[in-house]
Amino acid sequence: MTDNGSFLKRTHTCGELRKSDVNGEVILNGWVDSRRDHGHLVFIDLRDRYGITQVALDPSSRKELISAAKEIKPEYVVAVQGIVKPRPPEAINPNRPTGEVEITAGKIEILNPSKTPPFEIAVDTPVSDEIRLRYRYLDIRKRAMQENLVQRHKVIRALREALSDVGFIEVETPVLTKSTPEGARDYLVPSRIRRGFFYALPQSPQLFKQLLMVGGIDRYFQVVKCFRDEDLRADRQPEFTQLDVEMSFVEENDVFDVMEQAVCAACRAVENEAPAVPFPRMTYTDALTRFGTDKPDLRFGMELFDLTETVAGCGFRIFSQAASSGGRVMGITAPGCAAYSRKQIKELEEFAADYGAKGVAWIKVQDDGLSSPIAKFFEPADLEKIKDAAKAGPGDLILMVADAPMTVHRSLGELRVLLGKRHELAEGRNNLCWIVDFPMFETDPDSGEIGPSHHPFTAPVEEYEGHLEKDPASMKARAYDLVMDGFELGSGSVRIHDSKLQSRVFNALGITGEIAREKFGFLLDAFEFGAPPHAGFAVGIDRLVMLLTDNDNIRDVIAFPKTTSASCLMTDAPSPVRDAILGELGISRADHD
Ligand code: AMO
Repeated sequence: MTDNGSFLKRTHTCGELRKSDVNGEVILNGWVDSRRDHGHLVFIDLRDRYGITQVALDPSSRKELISAAKEIKPEYVVAVQGIVKPRPPEAINPNRPTGEVEITAGKIEILNPSKTPPFEIAVDTPVSDEIRLRYRYLDIRKRAMQENLVQRHKVIRALREALSDVGFIEVETPVLTKSTPEGARDYLVPSRIRRGFFYALPQSPQLFKQLLMVGGIDRYFQVVKCFRDEDLRADRQPEFTQLDVEMSFVEENDVFDVMEQAVCAACRAVENEAPAVPFPRMTYTDALTRFGTDKPDLRFGMELFDLTETVAGCGFRIFSQAASSGGRVMGITAPGCAAYSRKQIKELEEFAADYGAKGVAWIKVQDDGLSSPIAKFFEPADLEKIKDAAKAGPGDLILMVADAPMTVHRSLGELRVLLGKRHELAEGRNNLCWIVDFPMFETDPDSGEIGPSHHPFTAPVEEYEGHLEKDPASMKARAYDLVMDGFELGSGSVRIHDSKLQSRVFNALGITGEIAREKFGFLLDAFEFGAPPHAGFAVGIDRLVMLLTDNDNIRDVIAFPKTTSASCLMTDAPSPVRDAILGELGISRADHD
């Protein structure tokens, strides 16, 4: 590089040169992927985000060129000027788009040296998550992460275009705002000017998008960061990105149509093909009773079956008691798992215990009959009935749980997913399904209090409106989820647009008049000024990209994600702040600790 900072600027990328470029003079800029030194003959693989090109220095090269090449190490940033040459047939690399050519270097400029990185960029050796996240910029230099970020960009662009094409406009909503209830804790930001007051970072733009409808922006979308202080998992980050959508003068089917178009455009952007539309629909109750979850992976069967009636009067007390006390006895059939050892079955039982199951009963279907520690409690005819309900054949393992319905569904649903993964039962990808007819409220099993199944702005199915004060638990909501390969990809609802109904729902949720005014007064006011009927949806973009790129953690499709303890290992956020700064914000250390 010269003193005034000018350098040999690239004419081509490292992924671009082909046979048709032979004899052309080019300049490439990039990182040294590898250097192979065969005495006088030196090869350098030069890498950028577009690919890798081989640079060759032949024995006739000038001395200073050879010595520059010898100085170069992996991850040095260099500029190479040279002539594109065809490779001899035996040296062609069919696995690389640039594999038919190489550059005979005439000039090499080291633009910046590099320390030895903590892991190799060029080869895929296992690296701990901690090191990957601490040196995320180097991790991003690796091919897999670059590809993920490129696909993420394509997905977001396709979503934006698909919606813009049908009249939606993107509107930004505030980040320093008031709490929007989506079921998680808020991240708070202290106000310096109004000491003791706090903004909340939005859990979603829910209230603002509804206010945009009141404002006449009848087709809104936003690619938006949302913030939720909740327990993290493979598909959850404290800050994540939604495709947030709201529409006026619509009902469920209009939202489904638009979202199907957008999601299909995203699929096409990554895979050149899209799932068939319309996506199938399943009721919440069906999803729960057939798959034990409201986000069923429909790429494989292994459905739950109900044995409650069959075992009602049986001699196995755990079953008969569950059946007579409002519980359920249900099962799944694990195909080909009759050879499981007792230890393996015990492990399944321990797994199910994490989801509340007090035990897992089992029957092995073998060529010569059924084998099970609980067989002795059943009449042979009842055992046959169980086998029939389980649709089990020789070699299969029947697993059964007796408990409260929620526990039975949950534990068997999770066992089904575990075994489905273990035995690779899922066929294909991008299996999409709408889940509809959600209950309006959920009852907390400990406190008995009701909370919204979706959020408190969701409209009830009209025929249930009268239940609001006397039997809210029986109500159905106009809410819907989109499920993809066993993940909740997005959710939405038709909203309440009548301030009286909204107040009644707040009341049912124990949000009394005064608190409702304090928290959501602006929304209730807005509803008095001609709020149109409206509905909307939000897709988790990180989850969508994760599934389309075949990753199993959204961290892999986010440039700078957080760890499971919500910290950033690279920047060390969150970090302590000095007392003086806390003082300015009106926060004392004692409060803070
Ligand atoms: P909901 O809370 O269901 O609905 O969120 C919509 C979608 O956002 C994604 N998502 C997340 N992704 C990564 N990390 C998280 N912590 C996380 N939390 C949610 C999921 C989820 O399906 N305002 C409503 C939408 C509406 O009614 O229009 C909402 O936010 O993919």
